[in-house]
Amino acid sequence: MKILILNGANLNMLGVREPGIYGKLTLEELNREILAYAQNLNITAGFVQSNIEGEIINYIHSAQNEYTGIILNAGAFTHYSYAIRDAVSSVGIPVIEVHLSNLHAREEFRHKSVIAEVCVGVISGFGKYSYILALEYFKMNY
Ligand code: DQA
Repeated sequence: MKILILNGANLNMLGVREPGIYGKLTLEELNREILAYAQNLNITAGFVQSNIEGEIINYIHSAQNEYTGIILNAGAFTHYSYAIRDAVSSVGIPVIEVHLSNLHAREEFRHKSVIAEVCVGVISGFGKYSYILALEYFKMNY
């Protein structure tokens, strides 16, 4: 099984960006922990990050032929990108939306995801474990 971990806008700033909300791990450290967990589950993990909406869309499209599924944290694009939503519904592979923080405990504009409806489900508020729980779901179901 091969899973793509796709991080969107501003997630390259993890570690320095609002650590009280997003934690102290850098993106590289987070990815290392996810990779170690994936290896234990016998999952091959790929990692990409982009701050650019169109690049995220391209990553989703090209994952279709290479990956079993995608774990997607689109960052703030979650709340308004119909283009990323359409990309998710264009591909035939399952996508799990994840967030480090609990969107529902935060500002009102974060309560709405325009992507969630076309995803298998949403995992929000568990920090790095949001990604790890998504891996567990893929392991158990695909
Ligand atoms: C986030 C939550 C989003 O609202 C925010 O814009 C992010 C990170 C999270 O992982 O908690 O960039 O997706």
